[in-house]
Amino acid sequence: MTAAERKAIRRYYKQEAANKRKREMYYEIHRYGCDILQGNNFISTKAYVQHGSMSVNQHCKSVAEASLRINKRLRLNGDNRELVRGALLHDYFLYDWHNREKKKGERLHGFTHANAAFTNAVNDYDISEKQKNIICSHMWPLNLTKLPRCREAWIVTFADKYCSLMETLKVHRGILKREPVRVKIRKS
Ligand SMILES: [Fe+2]
Ligand SMILES: [Fe+2]
Repeated sequence: MTAAERKAIRRYYKQEAANKRKREMYYEIHRYGCDILQGNNFISTKAYVQHGSMSVNQHCKSVAEASLRINKRLRLNGDNRELVRGALLHDYFLYDWHNREKKKGERLHGFTHANAAFTNAVNDYDISEKQKNIICSHMWPLNLTKLPRCREAWIVTFADKYCSLMETLKVHRGILKREPVRVKIRKS
């Protein structure tokens, strides 16, 4: 067997392992968050932009997946159900923050949306104390007084920062296309 063939086989098994991990994450997210994923309000977040071309819907799923991955890789023993549900609902504010008109005296979206997400999540779902803490504290340290008080909240807070950075740097790209298509004008 040549070196190139050995390399191809190694790459194949590596890809297979990555696919297996992805399927496991997908299964876990649907296992614990099925009712949220199928909720009309959650589905409506597909139309709201988070960062770049990433919708709020896709961002929340990415944070859920990253939270599960961090929990598993670092053996943090966080509760997967709390992680998935908290991550799916952490940005459940249900509006497009880029073009929403602010009321007079209203603070920036970064300071207010965790509270909006919390109010909507409590209205729509029966959520645990840990999930409440995950939603309220995910913007820490921006919201300095809303401290993560359980390991699941720390994990989601970190996963959210990581995903937001990757989306802002366009390393993670979504399918939502907000920007109008630019037409090149040819000079004659
Ligand atoms: Fe957020
Ligand atoms: Fe987020």
